Amino acid sequence: MTTAQTTTAAVSIREVSKAFDGTAVLNSVSLEIRAGEFLALLGGSGCGKTTLLRIIAGLETPDQGSLCIGGKELTLAPPYERPVNMMFQSYALFPHLSVTENIAYGLRAAGMPANVRNTLVSWALKLVHLSALGHRRPAQLSGGQRQRVALARCLVKKPDVLLLDEPMAALDRNLREDMQRELVRIQREVGTTFVLVTHDQDEAMSMADRIAVMEQGKIIQCGSPAEIYARPESRFVARFLGRVNLFEGLYAIDAAGRAGITTAEGRVLHVAGAAGMDHGSACTGAVRPERMVLGSEPTGCATDFVGTVEDLAYFGDITRVIVRIDNATRIEATQVNRTGERATWLARGSSVHIGCEPADVVVLLA
Ligand SMILES: Nc1ncnc2c1ncn2[C@@H]1O[C@H](COP(=O)(O)OP(=O)(O)O)[C@@H](O)[C@H]1O
Ligand SMILES: [Mg+2]
Repeated sequence: MTTAQTTTAAVSIREVSKAFDGTAVLNSVSLEIRAGEFLALLGGSGCGKTTLLRIIAGLETPDQGSLCIGGKELTLAPPYERPVNMMFQSYALFPHLSVTENIAYGLRAAGMPANVRNTLVSWALKLVHLSALGHRRPAQLSGGQRQRVALARCLVKKPDVLLLDEPMAALDRNLREDMQRELVRIQREVGTTFVLVTHDQDEAMSMADRIAVMEQGKIIQCGSPAEIYARPESRFVARFLGRVNLFEGLYAIDAAGRAGITTAEGRVLHVAGAAGMDHGSACTGAVRPERMVLGSEPTGCATDFVGTVEDLAYFGDITRVIVRIDNATRIEATQVNRTGERATWLARGSSVHIGCEPADVVVLLA
């Protein structure tokens, strides 16, 4: 816990654990969700994302740990006492009510006067670009439009935090990309804290201000998409978000004082010095394919290997190249095709140099 925290976190989760039938599902999860941010909870199926969301909403009670929302301790508070709303994957719209009536439903149930209610409903309809369709029934809407209604119905109550559990899962691919952009636009416009559960890395990367990566009931890293991509803290995270080359070996400082990772094949991957890493410790160097430099001549990089192009895949904007440097080691490199054509020296079977600089390598423990 830092003492320098000046703004109140929207949601503060402290060492929350939860088991179902004796099986641990959440294992001492701590997370500070900032007010006004778009946070993605990203992880594979079954890692505990929905359970964590339901604990924030008050639909599940943690076995251990505590939860504050807007600075108030609400660990055991019922859902209706929390300034939180949850959008369900099924949308759960009333089929016999119009769009406007669906959105107004919760406000009416809370006894809000009609004039205030109507103003809010108009605002919400406009926000989701459905002002012209207020009279329609859910069955007369497309999937994307139904989702907008569900979103408007959540936001019209002006929650401090909106929880979204895989909201795009039911939409087809094109519609999903449109809705991703729409959700980001709406979140920016209203400034409400959004917590989005997703198992889709690209979705998390393109939408979120910060990503909390979950694995087996734990948050293993939390940061901006760029931080997580550029500075993964584990092999799991490095592999989970994007493509990566992993070089396993032993950390070593050579006679000239340069740090490197010596692989089992005796190659040295030069790295920037890693704090706290002892000479001889097992570690892994992680390098993104776009950081690898390819050439027909020595690359001039601190690390320079010679290998054979084993495979090439041309995608127009980029070419993905697999270079084999020995029987055990293949390195992937991404070439940007600035002229739209790939270099003539780059062909299957050709001998090439492939290299990278110390700053391009992230050193991971083991
Ligand atoms: N109410 C429940 N009773 C028993 N097991 C549950 C319950 N809810 C979730 N689980 C189990 O907890 C694990 C995590 O589930 P969940 O939080 O839904 O994961 P995710 O949303 O990441 O896919 C799964 O193994 C799931 O089967
Ligand atoms: Mg889930």
